[in-house]
Amino acid sequence: MHISTPKKDIDRILFTREQLADKVHELGEILTEEYKDKLPIVVCILKGASFFYIDLCRELKCHINLDFIDVSSYGNGTSSSGVVRMIKDLENNIEGRHVLLVEDIIDSGVTLSHLRKLLSARNPASIKICCLLDKAGAHAKELEPEYHGFEIGNEFVVGYGLDYAEYYRNLPYIGVLKPEVYAD
Ligand code: IMP
Ligand code: MG
Repeated sequence: MHISTPKKDIDRILFTREQLADKVHELGEILTEEYKDKLPIVVCILKGASFFYIDLCRELKCHINLDFIDVSSYGNGTSSSGVVRMIKDLENNIEGRHVLLVEDIIDSGVTLSHLRKLLSARNPASIKICCLLDKAGAHAKELEPEYHGFEIGNEFVVGYGLDYAEYYRNLPYIGVLKPEVYAD
């Protein structure tokens, strides 16, 4: 990692702060309607979803419980290892509860299909996925999240929680890195 600023490594911005805020507000309205009588457990999939999750929770105008889970499917590269490892489990018992999983991005779908299977075995009343970004075309149709923000092409993006080698998460927008960053 060379010493620069995250911003200098960005080739182009895909979604600005304002576009992200508008989308999160829109999702918040839909999800409030869906969950207003359900007292859901809203689950943040760490660490990538964290910025989106906090903003989304603030847009939910109904009672919710918060919980956090951490799994890892990526090494420090830009393609999925296909192996999902549990790093931190939920604190809540989800049996009989409505669960909303909040994820940053669905690429191959390995992470989300693994999590959905794992958590379904605990007999929740329902389990749905809200994903900010969907790399459509990269995964099977049956892995489609129930709610998503934006569809993007098959490129590697960073910012608003998304990382490259654990950096760039703190950028307030989502962008594409300059190719030379990967070459370093
Ligand atoms: P999947 O298991 O292939 O669907 O990958 C999902 C996980 O990989 C996400 O939770 C992200 O952490 C990471 N990921 C996939 N694509 C990107 C990307 O373009 N930028 C940053 N992280 C990504
Ligand atoms: Mg992630």
